[in-house]
Amino acid sequence: MGFFSNMRKPEGKLGNIQLKSMNKEHTPVSLWGLKHLNISPDDIVLDIGCGGGMNINRMAQTAKKVYGVDYSIESVKLSKEVNEDFIKEGKVEIYEGNVMDLPFDDDSFDIVTAFETVYFWPDIVKSFGEVKRVLKPGGMFLIGCEANGTNNLGMKFFNKVIDMTFYEDNDLVGFLDKNDFNEITVYLRDGKNKEEIIKKSDGEIFKIDDDYNNFSISDRFVEWMTVTAIK
Ligand SMILES: C[S@@+](CC[C@H](N)C(=O)[O-])C[C@H]1O[C@@H](n2cnc3c(N)ncnc32)[C@H](O)[C@@H]1O
Repeated sequence: MGFFSNMRKPEGKLGNIQLKSMNKEHTPVSLWGLKHLNISPDDIVLDIGCGGGMNINRMAQTAKKVYGVDYSIESVKLSKEVNEDFIKEGKVEIYEGNVMDLPFDDDSFDIVTAFETVYFWPDIVKSFGEVKRVLKPGGMFLIGCEANGTNNLGMKFFNKVIDMTFYEDNDLVGFLDKNDFNEITVYLRDGKNKEEIIKKSDGEIFKIDDDYNNFSISDRFVEWMTVTAIK
């Protein structure tokens, strides 16, 4: 397994190193994405494509319980290590599984999150249907992406070397629409102008100041995107 294929499905020693690095490198965009989520102490959360498990750890500080799922054994292993204490407390559970066939009952979760992972999902419309199946009615799906599909040189490079698909906000909204999600909201970060553009499902678009100062290397060629939707 090479460096780039490990982003799609981390394997072995190199996969473990990359997952640890992602736990660090993805911190700025993950924290920005989490700003758009109001986790309450009663919430039961599922993090899909949990990778190195840092977002599980962050959400478990507030939620009643957090589940993680990933189809990479290496991701499951590191997520379990990172969340060892929460697992002992019974606050976190982590499983190997594919988003295409989630190992959970219908209507199980208040919140489902997917950070830096939808680019790899094989059939995205069907996957979003699986997410909807496991969400409780009224539950929220949050998608966090470091790239918003802007077709610049950096993105073209990644598209070539990694088998991944960069979506624009309209693409994601379309896939969510096909699954009859409600209240779809897009948050786009314009780091250069320190603004956040918010697009509501009724067509309203507005901007707010964004004084978020947590930058990452990717800031040079991508703008971040978070999309939320309600079942
Ligand atoms: C780039 S990593 C992101 C990890 C973590 N969410 C983060 O933000 O750092 C993508 C993760 O998604 C997982 N993944 C990709 N496709 C998946 C699928 N079809 N089902 C479950 N997990 C998947 C990979 O194994 C990997 O751990």
